[in-house]
Amino acid sequence: MSMAAQDFRTTGAQYAAPIRPRLLGVEDAKALPTTRIRELFSAHLNPGQLHFMKLLGFDKVKVERAEGMHYITDDGRRILDFFGGFGSVAFGHNHPRIIAARKRFADENRHEICMAFMSQYAAALAHNLAEIAPGDLDMVFLGSSGSEAMEAAIKVAEQAQGPQKSRVIYAANAFHGKTKGALSITDSTLYQQQFALVDNRVKVPFGDIDAIRQAIESDPSIGIVVLETIQGGGGIIEAPTSFWRELRRLCDKHDVLWVADEVQCGLGRTGRFFAFEEHGVIPDVTALAKSLGGSKSAMAAMIARREVYMKAYGKPKTALIHGPATFGGIGEACISAIEGLNILYDEDLIGNAEREGAHLIARLKAIKAKHPSLIKDVRGRGFMVGVEFNDVSETLPFGLKQMVALLDDKLKGSLCGFVGALMLKEYDTLVAFTEYNRNVIRLEPPLIATRADVDRFCDAFDDLLSRGVARIVTDYLRKVAVK
Ligand SMILES: Cc1ncc(COP(=O)(O)O)c(C=O)c1O
Repeated sequence: MSMAAQDFRTTGAQYAAPIRPRLLGVEDAKALPTTRIRELFSAHLNPGQLHFMKLLGFDKVKVERAEGMHYITDDGRRILDFFGGFGSVAFGHNHPRIIAARKRFADENRHEICMAFMSQYAAALAHNLAEIAPGDLDMVFLGSSGSEAMEAAIKVAEQAQGPQKSRVIYAANAFHGKTKGALSITDSTLYQQQFALVDNRVKVPFGDIDAIRQAIESDPSIGIVVLETIQGGGGIIEAPTSFWRELRRLCDKHDVLWVADEVQCGLGRTGRFFAFEEHGVIPDVTALAKSLGGSKSAMAAMIARREVYMKAYGKPKTALIHGPATFGGIGEACISAIEGLNILYDEDLIGNAEREGAHLIARLKAIKAKHPSLIKDVRGRGFMVGVEFNDVSETLPFGLKQMVALLDDKLKGSLCGFVGALMLKEYDTLVAFTEYNRNVIRLEPPLIATRADVDRFCDAFDDLLSRGVARIVTDYLRKVAVK
């Protein structure tokens, strides 16, 4: 209760309207200088995250606009986006068709909330997803984040299987989100901390079919397997087609439901709409998020086989157990998603990801051959690519080794931090890091990236690596670490 209201009640004094807090307006926000943003970020958002931004020099950038492949800063830099918001900028920044659709929607005063009445937009989006998804992946739940879609995926599977068959297999180094259910099968002690998690789970190494077979055959309470089709946070890790085929066979044989997390690898990123399509198999449940909202709004979907969905929530009595969510199927996000899915095919973005992704990987492999002491591995598919660096801590000259020892833990051993910071500082190019493997940088550019964008990125990367370890580290110390 506010002081004003309390005084009013206890003293009988006349009610005074609340004093207007000192609020910033939208125009104030737009005009905030970098120093003030930094202060507010530290005071009210996440001081620890700011620490990492400072290490990389990312805290010095104020983005004014974003268009296509680029962020444009207040001092006129055009930063090439090969980070792509961990896969959430598939359409590039502010795709004109998505902006136009959103503008029409706003100008026509269309409705957002679809709790009371049926929404034509949610219905059309669900239709589109069912049309795209293979097999009888026909039933759609709409939400706003990858974690929410994964919660929905785990719950629909568990509800369909019942309590006797609700144990979940998940993979080492998996990342499925930070809400409690998804966190329970996200393999990170850092993220899991001391939280009380859902304990009904079994961990197996990613891609180890024997471990899965053994677990399923020895424990009839296992009814669900949840796997990313390509591990993103784990460092861009794939399993072979033989693994997925055998997984499908085992699941069918033992009545186990396979949930494919396509939050990061889905929506065309790997050169297929769903990454699992590469292997000629279809899961029972899948999840999309990231770019689903047209790289402009928060939209996520869980898609289940009709039989699984109907078993879980198909009756009026069970229909409201999980959905709808308040903002699930919100109008503007739905139309952004509908337009986005159409663009994906109209502009052949999936084909572009396959072709230009192959070019990116081929060029990176050539760069690896040129710098074998720096790069350990190049891997991935389409525009979901990982570059793993060697641990350089032992190869540094003595003096540098001592200086690096004084740096933040995140920067020791791996070249990722130094390379990422210098790619931004000197080449106006943004790359992403990887949750569990700090030797891997992740490249997930928008699917609109052209041959010229890929070549510009590769030329810059090659040029930077040509300096060699010692100069990369000293340049970082001189140009980024020293304020
Ligand atoms: C594979 C995967 N699943 C789930 C999530 C969680 O998505 P969100 O951050 O939107 O909750 C992510 C996020 O990076 C992800 O990569």
